[in-house]
Amino acid sequence: METKVPTTVLIKGGTIVTATDKYEADIFVSGETIQTIGLNLEVTADKVIDAKGKYIFPGGIDPHTHMELPFMGTHSSDDFETGTRAGLYGGTTTIIDFAIQNQGNTLNAIIEEYHRKASKAVGDYAFHLGVTDFNSGTKEEIKDIILKKGISSFKVFMAYKGALMVDDRQIMELMTETGRYGGMVIAHCENGDIIDGLVKEHLAAGKIEPKYHGICHPELAEAEASGRFIDLAHHTKSPCYIVHMTCEGALNKVKDATKRNQKVNVETCIQYLVLNDELYERPGFEASKWIFSPPLRKPKDQEALWASIRQGIVHTVGTDHCPFCMDQKRMGEKDFSKIPNGAPMIENRMEVLFSEGVVKGRISLNKFVEISSTNAAKIFGMFPKKGAIAIGSDADLVIFDPNEKHTISAETHHMRCDYNGFEGMEVTGKTKTVLLRGTVAIENGKALVGSGFGKFVHRAAHNVELRRENERRASDD
Ligand code: URP
Ligand code: ZN
Ligand code: ZN
Repeated sequence: METKVPTTVLIKGGTIVTATDKYEADIFVSGETIQTIGLNLEVTADKVIDAKGKYIFPGGIDPHTHMELPFMGTHSSDDFETGTRAGLYGGTTTIIDFAIQNQGNTLNAIIEEYHRKASKAVGDYAFHLGVTDFNSGTKEEIKDIILKKGISSFKVFMAYKGALMVDDRQIMELMTETGRYGGMVIAHCENGDIIDGLVKEHLAAGKIEPKYHGICHPELAEAEASGRFIDLAHHTKSPCYIVHMTCEGALNKVKDATKRNQKVNVETCIQYLVLNDELYERPGFEASKWIFSPPLRKPKDQEALWASIRQGIVHTVGTDHCPFCMDQKRMGEKDFSKIPNGAPMIENRMEVLFSEGVVKGRISLNKFVEISSTNAAKIFGMFPKKGAIAIGSDADLVIFDPNEKHTISAETHHMRCDYNGFEGMEVTGKTKTVLLRGTVAIENGKALVGSGFGKFVHRAAHNVELRRENERRASDD
């Protein structure tokens, strides 16, 4: 795509909102970074943007996506190009995607494969590394991956028995090894054995419809695995992060850990805050649209998640963006356990969170920025390059109209998926203009940057301080 790229941009008259502040000022961007922030700046620029009446947020960071993921006999339908572009439309400028090891292969092989896949990204990206087979060979790879390859978070699955699931011994050994170099283990916490048993029982009883997915992934299975993962981290004196937490039972495990002064980093996803398990009662095969793991929960869990965000117990809101079109979902028409798990979410995360969170009075504006951008940057070693509006930070900026109303629909979204899980939802607040590293990426409803514009974000080995804190705490025990 041929575009004249301005090298300087002046954003005038907007209200800058960060995780801590809200104030009116102009922002002068030179090259890829923010050069000056001040009142009534008198500078000339290649491009001037009038942001009066708009908020300016740091670019959103989605800490949990799966682009082109090979999964359950198919691939998620967005690749790095279509998925990161859709993210930009919704104000997400950086994603952290999961490069998941194929059992039997090296970690370095999957990193190379993901660099190849991601070379067409439109938005910026980093990787978590999914470890599905931890052995003496993979152990040797860890040090260089953290210290030289810019990947410092390692994901384990406590579910998907017979596919991605690892055992507790592997988790502990991975924690110990990654902890040595300032890495962190992050986990999908559901008890794979409980789920496996329930799925078999239901199928044997002829219960094949999508709604049984929810019933076979009970709250208890998530709470048990969350508590176990937290205990393993405590035992190995390691920092930890739990992805896509959905329920009160799991949150209670996190609260319990704070009583022994353990820090647990927690992510939830936008769908768990806004949608609930009534959707599994939709007729026919429609419920398959919301088949992901963990599943949607009850209104009491949604309340617990919002409260935990306010209390600082939940730190990030991601998406677990992993779209499958309806033709792909239909692979499980006769067996709910074969429905590819995942849904399209990346484009709507920021606007739905703003509308349901800030506009409805559940969270403050600063909290919105914290959980949609800044905390992910801090936890995953990207701050203050990302997640901040500050001199020297990347000029990843979202100019946002807090009053514009619109209705979410698959007809107008940019994700490569033929349905939208929020179809028909009216939201207040719209991403108008997005800058990615100083270049106007989205303007007037159009993407102005193309395939390959996105850059890999090399993350720091970031948990040395956290680790010291955990060690101090352990020596006090
Ligand atoms: O259902 C989900 N979440 N699909 C993607 C893989 C995962 O568990 O994160
Ligand atoms: Zn997961
Ligand atoms: Zn996921």
